[in-house]
Amino acid sequence: MNAPKPGILAIIGQGYVGLPLAMAAIDAGWSVIGVDNHSGKVAQINSGSSPVEDISDAQLKLAISAGVYEATTDYSRTAEASVIAICVPTPLDEKREPDLSLLRSATEGIAPHISDETLVVSESTSYPGTLREVIIPIIDSLKPETSPTVYFASAPERVNPGDPVWNQKNTPRLIGAINEESKNRAHTFYNSICDVAIAVTTPEVAEAAKLLENTFRLVNIALVNEFAQICSASSINVQEVIDAASSKPYGFMPFRPGVGVGGHCIPVDPLYLTWWARKNGSRAEFVESADAINLEMPRYVAERALNMVNSAIKNPKVLILGVAYKPGVGDVRETPVSELRNHLLSKGAEVSWHDPLVSEWNGSKSVDLDWQCDVAILATMQPGMNIEQLISQGALILDCTNSINGVSGVTSL
Ligand SMILES: NC(=O)c1ccc[n+]([C@@H]2O[C@H](COP(=O)([O-])OP(=O)(O)OC[C@H]3O[C@@H](n4cnc5c(N)ncnc54)[C@H](O)[C@@H]3O)[C@@H](O)[C@H]2O)c1
Repeated sequence: MNAPKPGILAIIGQGYVGLPLAMAAIDAGWSVIGVDNHSGKVAQINSGSSPVEDISDAQLKLAISAGVYEATTDYSRTAEASVIAICVPTPLDEKREPDLSLLRSATEGIAPHISDETLVVSESTSYPGTLREVIIPIIDSLKPETSPTVYFASAPERVNPGDPVWNQKNTPRLIGAINEESKNRAHTFYNSICDVAIAVTTPEVAEAAKLLENTFRLVNIALVNEFAQICSASSINVQEVIDAASSKPYGFMPFRPGVGVGGHCIPVDPLYLTWWARKNGSRAEFVESADAINLEMPRYVAERALNMVNSAIKNPKVLILGVAYKPGVGDVRETPVSELRNHLLSKGAEVSWHDPLVSEWNGSKSVDLDWQCDVAILATMQPGMNIEQLISQGALILDCTNSINGVSGVTSL
């Protein structure tokens, strides 16, 4: 295959996926037009202030001042690009089913401007068939007559925000293209950015692989969440059990219990799978069970924490430590801490929270660690959180993160 020749890349959606992709592409020699329909975000990015933790302001400013990056709300700029990557959210609707409205509107936005011989890749996570049944028909029906040939591939993003080791460059990329020329172009594009690009036979294989990866996480987390409850009922420390099982050198992979699953991927993507299964006349019962177990965890954690408080206290004060869905990010999307808070409130608790990476959440602000509580729940172990201060204050703590061992007053989940 010929060496890649970087040119102009347009990326639709400048969030946790799109902006890091932009910076990785710039490192590889591409010039990037970052299209986003959120004008406030576009203004923020163009002022050099990064909205995602993995991209520093300095890196962003450097790209802007070098003239190789610009954010815009203007879809017509995609006409300049030889590659367009779609990186918009694919959430669930109110029935907890796939909501492709943003993906559709992004595709409708680019279609009238697409230039001939452009490669369109979808990095958004979705069910198998999305590229072929949703994206391609929209582009085919709206593209200019002067652009008869458009190439298509699905290349689901695997980025893990906040991960110090794995990033766009060193995480192998799956590519499923609709024909040989699309495959070659997608391969050339991703080879210019990633160390390894792996071609699979169809877009549907790539789309299904992404769902399998995240469903694997969901079901294993559910298994260990269920296991934690079984161990706790027999006063066995589940963390020690997991450590013990991890000594087996093959056939076991440790997952840890917690408040539940959060973020834009793990609680969401497996429901694209359950929906897709139903659409095809089958059922993903195992995945549905896993989802139900994880959804119950916040209630279980709330009860465990309240049971630690003297029953004479009618309205216990509960401090939640860490509201982001995982350490190292300020992302509160789908955080299971929301349900935890709701359960605590429904039991009459007075609830405050502390998170060094989140200043405002659910209409309230992060409190200081000296907020006097009857029990604290360590939900997400954020860097920079001074747990020692709480411990020295003698607070009772339910640790859902396996971070504090052998300290009196601290109970592990
Ligand atoms: N966040 C992750 O860890 C992660 C990892 C792998 C894959 N994914 C997948 O990548 C996709 C994007 O996720 P994300 O986390 O980057 O989302 P995000 O919310 O961080 O960013 C998406 C951006 O797209 C913009 N946007 C929405 N609709 C648009 C439209 N019609 N036109 C232009 N811009 C639009 C939003 O304003 C936002 O800035 C999703 O399918 C997600 O499942 C996410």
